Amino acid sequence: MDRRNFLKLCSSMAVASMLDTGVIGRALASQGGDFKKYEKALLVKEDGTPLKVEDIKPHTTYIFFYPFVSTPAFLLNLDKEVGPVDLELSDGSKYKWPGGVGPKKSLVAYSAICSHQLSYPTKDYSFIDYYSPENPSKTTKRSGVIQCCAHLSIFDPSQGGKVLDGPAEFPISTVVLSYEEGKLYAVGTLGVEVYQDFFDVYKRDLRKQYGSSRKAKKKSKECKVIEVSKYAKESIKC
Ligand code: FES
Repeated sequence: MDRRNFLKLCSSMAVASMLDTGVIGRALASQGGDFKKYEKALLVKEDGTPLKVEDIKPHTTYIFFYPFVSTPAFLLNLDKEVGPVDLELSDGSKYKWPGGVGPKKSLVAYSAICSHQLSYPTKDYSFIDYYSPENPSKTTKRSGVIQCCAHLSIFDPSQGGKVLDGPAEFPISTVVLSYEEGKLYAVGTLGVEVYQDFFDVYKRDLRKQYGSSRKAKKKSKECKVIEVSKYAKESIKC
């Protein structure tokens, strides 16, 4: 990593470390794990044509923006049927994660914003990523997990984003997918959302990138899906 990127990284970490964790606790208390319906958005390739299941390589991290044009989400092909799973939050509320979609029920999507202190993939770097079975984490030795290198929270994408380890107190939220006649759509979210916190904490960055807060909060109507390795200049693996 060069010095410029390192300084950017440090400034982002400073934002994360100054976060009022109580804000996220309030999100948990107020939302439970209910399904929330958003715009139905078609997932498309970079050329704008509909994304097909065969385009999604197993154990490769893809990124798209949903339910808002500025809120990143991961798309993964876990290469095996996953779910459904019953999840329980620390306040005792429960919800059912419906599992993977597609012909093998192996496709899953999650918010790429860490539920601990909102680390997320930017165009410069990604602190949070999926670790494939072939490339486990050097630090935790885990694979088949989504791991955030900011403070080592680990989430299980085969179990509704459940927290496996680290300081995160609740699962990363699910982006609910629908598979219809060979096409994939994002239709809503499930679990505890942190989008309002994300907009509040990163207000300046989002204004700079999207022109205004209003533009950053526009709902996604169509989602371009690209590999994280092409989106972020640097993937910070730990
Ligand atoms: S921001 Fe702390 S573990 Fe992700």
